Amino acid sequence: MGCIDAFESGSAILSVDMGFVTHLLWEKFRSLPVLVQVPMGCAFQRLPIILEKHMKTSITLSTPAEIVTECLVAVVLDKGEKDKPVPFADASDPVQKTAAAVLASGDVTGKTFETTLVHTPGGLKAKRLLLLGGGKTKNFSPAELRKIAGAAARFLKSRGIREFTFVAPESVRAEQAVRSIVEGAFVGDFDPDYYKSDRKDQKLDSVAVAARGDQAALENARKVAHIIGESQNFTRDLVNEPSNRMTPTIMADRAKKMSQEVGLKCEVYGADKIKELKMGAFWSVAQGSDEPPALIIMKYEPAGAPEKPVLGLVGKGITFDTGGISIKPADGMEKMKYDMAGGATMLGVMRAIALLKPKVKVIAIVCATENMPSGKAQKPGDVQIAMSGKSIEIINTDAEGRLVLADGLYYARQLGCTHLVDAATLTGAVVVALGYANAGIFANNDEMYDRFSKALTKAGEKMWRLPLDDEYKEIIKSNIADIMNSGGRWGGAITAAMFLKEFAEDTPWIHLDIAGTAWTEDAKPWIAKGPSGIAVRSLIEFVQNWAE
Ligand code: BES
Ligand code: MN
Ligand code: ZN
Repeated sequence: MGCIDAFESGSAILSVDMGFVTHLLWEKFRSLPVLVQVPMGCAFQRLPIILEKHMKTSITLSTPAEIVTECLVAVVLDKGEKDKPVPFADASDPVQKTAAAVLASGDVTGKTFETTLVHTPGGLKAKRLLLLGGGKTKNFSPAELRKIAGAAARFLKSRGIREFTFVAPESVRAEQAVRSIVEGAFVGDFDPDYYKSDRKDQKLDSVAVAARGDQAALENARKVAHIIGESQNFTRDLVNEPSNRMTPTIMADRAKKMSQEVGLKCEVYGADKIKELKMGAFWSVAQGSDEPPALIIMKYEPAGAPEKPVLGLVGKGITFDTGGISIKPADGMEKMKYDMAGGATMLGVMRAIALLKPKVKVIAIVCATENMPSGKAQKPGDVQIAMSGKSIEIINTDAEGRLVLADGLYYARQLGCTHLVDAATLTGAVVVALGYANAGIFANNDEMYDRFSKALTKAGEKMWRLPLDDEYKEIIKSNIADIMNSGGRWGGAITAAMFLKEFAEDTPWIHLDIAGTAWTEDAKPWIAKGPSGIAVRSLIEFVQNWAE
């Protein structure tokens, strides 16, 4: 029968062998994050099923005044002209009228993220009207709208309001507005506080968008945005989990379960197969940990897709990075649970792709392992032979991400990938270079870069290209082997990328260094502190673009 172990963290594990036990205990523990251990043959497979409800989204073609909702949200723009009342971003007349008094008061400026909540607004069927500042008219864009929708979601849910209707501003094309609002609402809906025992579940129930236009087109935009938003949050859930609850095995289980749900092929290989494939670089990191590594391979091969391209998405899945023998200082080490964000990104992207069904082949590879110091751990000075045959002198065991990716990238090429993208929380140096506002992007091919750059703009994500000149290669030449795994401090993000380039060789390739951007350090009006889900939306856009 089932048993309950309550941990200090306030979570509970239900070990069950009969379904109804889960049901009984569920009533009692519904406020806690729950791990359900599902018996699988003789082994226990641990599937962390976070029992969260899902946000519903819809389109309404009714006029805003007619909409029955907990809260109607309208964007107020700042036209930047003094002594003039602040106009709406074209909300309908009754809404304009209702807000006229508030606007006349001069309290509302339209400044970005400014919130003004009006209760029982006269002339409207809505219970409340939220005026949300959209900033200067000339700067208003789909990307701004996405953030404003996120801010509305966070503002309202923190006040216990679980449902709202957002009036699509007419200054953005209706379908694009739907995309932005729905995606933004999902971003805003996420909170990382799963393990608080007094966690109030503040997830939104539903978000509607009031828009005018072709109903089928709007409905399609909503569906696409819903899949993208949900997939970004799927990634954020994985990244948020601490390393004791997101081991390589658990990450692989989550990949398998998700693949089953959306119809992807998924294979997971363990230590034996990693050694058999001669992945000496990946194994050199995995060898030091008691926790078994996992090589996760997901394939999306839709009927009717051309033979080429085959897009390869390779993710760094270090479920915890202690640094290994070159151990990291204690201060801030807890953050290294998010060192699998690149891998989690690829899982989220594959989920969305399987649901959106573009006609293009995609293979994802996630190299998942811990990086630990132990009697079995590799040591500085060791020489490792990567799957490609290149020899690597280990200078610093903390430069482990590039090691697992070296074999991941090479293996992707072996599986027939014609184009590669990797995502990794690879270097502290990229944070020194670009701070938290931009991720680092590297490319050995300008056409690939241009394609990705377009996807970034559409997805409203920011990355800045850094160079890969031959001069940097000198820095990672080794005396004893082909290359070293660390080029030292200067240009650290670039030398790390140069290392990866050796394994992408002449296959068109892009590298995303998301070390500074995968975790939001300070809460923003539109996004909670914690995992950001950076790169998920851009990668989905990038993949879909190949199918057009
Ligand atoms: N996972 C870290 C990089 C990192 C730093 C991610 C900060 C997120 C936030 C990576 O494995 C690492 O330790 N890189 C070293 C490389 C160095 C030893 C050449 C670094 O950046 O210090
Ligand atoms: Mn490291
Ligand atoms: Zn790392």
